[in-house]
Amino acid sequence: MDKAEQDALKKAAGVEAAKLIENGMIAGLGTGSTVRFLVDELGRRVQEEGLEFTGVTTSRRTQEQAEGYGIKIVDIDAVDHIDVTIDGADEVDRNFNGIKGGGAALLWEKIVATNSNRIVWIVDESKVVETIGKFPLPVEVIPFGAGHVIKRFEERGYKPVLRKDAEGKEVRTDENNYVVDLHLDMIEHPEDLAEDLINTVGVVEHGLFLNMVDTVIVGNPNGPRVMTNSNK
Ligand code: A5P
Repeated sequence: MDKAEQDALKKAAGVEAAKLIENGMIAGLGTGSTVRFLVDELGRRVQEEGLEFTGVTTSRRTQEQAEGYGIKIVDIDAVDHIDVTIDGADEVDRNFNGIKGGGAALLWEKIVATNSNRIVWIVDESKVVETIGKFPLPVEVIPFGAGHVIKRFEERGYKPVLRKDAEGKEVRTDENNYVVDLHLDMIEHPEDLAEDLINTVGVVEHGLFLNMVDTVIVGNPNGPRVMTNSNK
């Protein structure tokens, strides 16, 4: 699938998901290239249809884009609940276990998701996989002592790589932390791995989102298809 085809599927999923937002709702808005299409469509609805809702964003990037359309964005602590959060994902399997954080926003994404009544992911077909892990698993790490955390990951065979930008500088998250990507290839026991990662001192959060999502809208050449999680 080339980039133009993939973008068309991402857009289709984003436009479909935008239909879930109704007047008066509090909506979590995720991060990434698929969510950009969602926010474009929500912006169109706000401007052309007079849609009124309140958004909580999972990154400063999404906040800027949404506010550019006149969408009202508030701090997560200013709301007592979030009706629905729509976000992208890097991989998802048939058990609704996923990897997120390719865009380095996994910590805020997990906080927003945890406080949402319903979670919807929008992906293109290439992200639905048999076993997660081909996509490097992002882990958010405190900069102080990050070298030791990376050494510990190496000893455990996790193949860690500190994420850097095009200029070779460490990527920083919205919380000013580092991202370490684990090149695991296949994650056969995601619960055990999640437990191990979160118990490593210096790790703030990891990109394993296990059985959290309720609905996945998959952009497909034949039109968006919906995967519903009945085991949550
Ligand atoms: C951001 O940190 C991520 O979790 C994104 O939601 C994920 O990487 C999907 O991004 P794309 O929609 O750009 O593929």
